[in-house]
Amino acid sequence: MTTPDLRLVPALPEHLDFWMALRDEPVSRKLVPMEPSTRESLLKRMQEATSDLSDPKAKSFRWMVELDGRLVGTVAAKDLSRFHGRIEIGYMLSSAYHGRGIGTRAVGMVLERLFEWSFLHRVWLTTAADNLASQALARKLGFTLEGVMPEHFFVDGQRKDQQVWGLLRSTWEAARRDVRPVP
Ligand SMILES: CC(C)(COP(=O)(O)OP(=O)(O)OC[C@H]1O[C@@H](n2cnc3c(N)ncnc32)[C@H](O)[C@@H]1OP(=O)(O)O)[C@@H](O)C(=O)NCCC(=O)NCCS
Repeated sequence: MTTPDLRLVPALPEHLDFWMALRDEPVSRKLVPMEPSTRESLLKRMQEATSDLSDPKAKSFRWMVELDGRLVGTVAAKDLSRFHGRIEIGYMLSSAYHGRGIGTRAVGMVLERLFEWSFLHRVWLTTAADNLASQALARKLGFTLEGVMPEHFFVDGQRKDQQVWGLLRSTWEAARRDVRPVP
């Protein structure tokens, strides 16, 4: 048996239709606090993001997730502050691929890349209080629940609490050390 090949590829305008369809899936609409967006505004966001972590001016990054050559999701990182050493991440997979460990692996791959920046101190994310899969993913990767913003957003016709989760470099590195085999 072979392990499915999971890859991060740079997000390009040709991925726009896939991204739009992903945002439109019922699970995404129910659980992710997205404002209505036009095709043009999403294209602009995609073009403003890069996957080149060596670009000193970039603040916004996006990758598409491919499983055995098929697009299955996207992971993004935004609002990079080099001064404060922090960045916010977000992620979304097509529901046909949920619950197979793909989200955890893909976000873990992005964290590996981000923490290669020596200035990066903290990665954070927000998630809806009822998004149990997202919370489980965050917890598995070492994030800690830091707080809750009550009724912070309006999604799927309801006001929902939004949780803030954070991952410090020290926690990430300690977790990496723990999984490395002892020589
Ligand atoms: C959140 C998301 C990326 C998780 O990806 P995934 O590949 O389905 O998650 P994984 O298979 O890696 O599972 C991660 C953990 O979540 C748990 N989990 C998955 N679905 C769950 C659910 N519906 N309820 C509770 N836990 C769940 C898994 O059991 C696993 O924990 P475990 O290994 O301890 O059992 C995916 O569900 C998704 O894209 N959802 C819609 C968009 C979204 O919510 N994005 C996040 C916005 S903050």
